Amino acid sequence: MKSFAQNLIQLRRQYNMTQEQLANKLNISSQAVSKWETGQSLPDIIVLPKIADIFRTSIDSLISHSLKHNPSTQYEEFYRSQNYYWGITPNHLCYEILKLKPPIKPWRLLDIGCGEGKDAVFFARNGYQVDAFDITKTGLDKAKKLASFYNVQVNFFQADINSFRPNTQYDIIFSSGVLHYLKPDLKEQIIHNYKHHTAENGLNVFNVFIDKPFLPPAPDEETPHTLWYSGELAALYHDWYFHQFYENIFDCISNNIPHKHCMNTIIAEKVCS
Ligand SMILES: C[S@@+](CC[C@H](N)C(=O)[O-])C[C@H]1O[C@@H](n2cnc3c(N)ncnc32)[C@H](O)[C@@H]1O
Repeated sequence: MKSFAQNLIQLRRQYNMTQEQLANKLNISSQAVSKWETGQSLPDIIVLPKIADIFRTSIDSLISHSLKHNPSTQYEEFYRSQNYYWGITPNHLCYEILKLKPPIKPWRLLDIGCGEGKDAVFFARNGYQVDAFDITKTGLDKAKKLASFYNVQVNFFQADINSFRPNTQYDIIFSSGVLHYLKPDLKEQIIHNYKHHTAENGLNVFNVFIDKPFLPPAPDEETPHTLWYSGELAALYHDWYFHQFYENIFDCISNNIPHKHCMNTIIAEKVCS
């Protein structure tokens, strides 16, 4: 009861929503919301999925103990400086998306783990309708600054990849260098959920870090994370059309220490019969 109340307060604040606004969305009185938040009562079981939907989270996360300890990453610190840790040049995959889904209409795009927003802002500048989330507040603050510098709208919000569930269909779901933060037991379910929330002929464009025994761990690797195996991501998309799938090893100097990463990249299209 206590954890639900704390989770609800945290989510409502995160979404900048008053008790009354939440109550209106649920078609109930604001007193009812107030009672949930003070732990005097719990919502009816039929209302729980609606609350999860509003806050784009799972019912499990709503009632679990973990949400109140907002999980953090080292990036929260890295993003604190004035400079953009990842720069502001968009990822090369953004141009691949532009070629495959040119913005002839405002395609709905989700950027998962958007960091400081370079890619999300690039898409918005090119006419896409962008939702983007990250777990770090410092990253999102800088992302919002970048969007306002370019005078574009992006719906940035704070969320954890492990509890976030889309509540709408997207034409493009994109994520670069983030999916190793998925908990191993949730990976398959969450990828399945992204596929489900992709519109017909929509794209999923992801790159993931790959475990190679001959490569030493990267110096800025943090726990908890789980690298992927070669081909693992491709297997989850066996029923989609692959525009691209490849593996590469590249040099990186994040944290000012030269090291190497291995990645699998996939650009897959949901083709319906
Ligand atoms: C390697 S960075 C990539 C950032 C961005 N996609 C880019 O390419 O510039 C990984 C990002 O994942 C975010 N992240 C880490 N754990 C996360 C989680 N559990 N949920 C959502 N984002 C997370 C970090 O804050 C960081 O911004």
